[in-house]
Amino acid sequence: MNKAIIPLIIGNWKMNGEIKQLGEIDSLNSMLNNMNNNNCHTVICPPTTLLISATQLNENSKIAFGGQDCHIEQSGAHTGDISAEILKDAGAQYVIVGHSERRSDHGENDELVQEKANAAFRADITPIICIGESENERKQGRALKVVLEQLDKSIPTDIKDIIVAYEPVWAIGTGLVPSINDINEMHDAIRAALVEKFGVNGEKTPILYGGSMKPNNAKEILELSNVNGGLVGGASLKASDFIQIIKACQ
Ligand code: PGA
Repeated sequence: MNKAIIPLIIGNWKMNGEIKQLGEIDSLNSMLNNMNNNNCHTVICPPTTLLISATQLNENSKIAFGGQDCHIEQSGAHTGDISAEILKDAGAQYVIVGHSERRSDHGENDELVQEKANAAFRADITPIICIGESENERKQGRALKVVLEQLDKSIPTDIKDIIVAYEPVWAIGTGLVPSINDINEMHDAIRAALVEKFGVNGEKTPILYGGSMKPNNAKEILELSNVNGGLVGGASLKASDFIQIIKACQ
């Protein structure tokens, strides 16, 4: 991990979280308060229904909150959607855009993801832009090419404050993880592409790894120089698991 970038561990709760799940945030808070040196930022992206309660109950805590998706417009006739401005109003400081589950369940493409990232800028929240290859693309030896192309098309032309999350689709929720060498190679390539395009800003952009990050593999992954944190699904739902990943980030 490159110490010049503050590491981030972001929990993506996906479509999990009834009101009682707020108790896990309470527990996480106590655990964080008991840590002596915590050098990493902790973010939770709960279902939108929990966002206001989570932000209000944790106003002075060390946990920040984010949404899991946003519409490109600020408001209007878009039943079932949520805008970056509404997320911000509910206390969100971040929003995930282009998660592979949005790309596959809702047919979202890179151009739309880029617009969503721009919508996040408009609302003054930080987009967490997800990219990653499928299993077939990896098997065919096209992972690097596919991911760099997604990166190029999904990030705004002026990156301001963004977070990139590399999440191989085949590793999400499967318990499978790429080899350390493969993660290293991909993160180095993403860094090089960001620097080539954006100069110093590209050097400062956090690049997170996501896809079956767990207490038992987090440390090894987080030690890589161009891994600046993790986007964690399943293992973020229980405070006792999530805190282990946060501790691995020190
Ligand atoms: P996972 O999900 O940790 O459950 O694999 C990661 C993600 O989809 O962000």
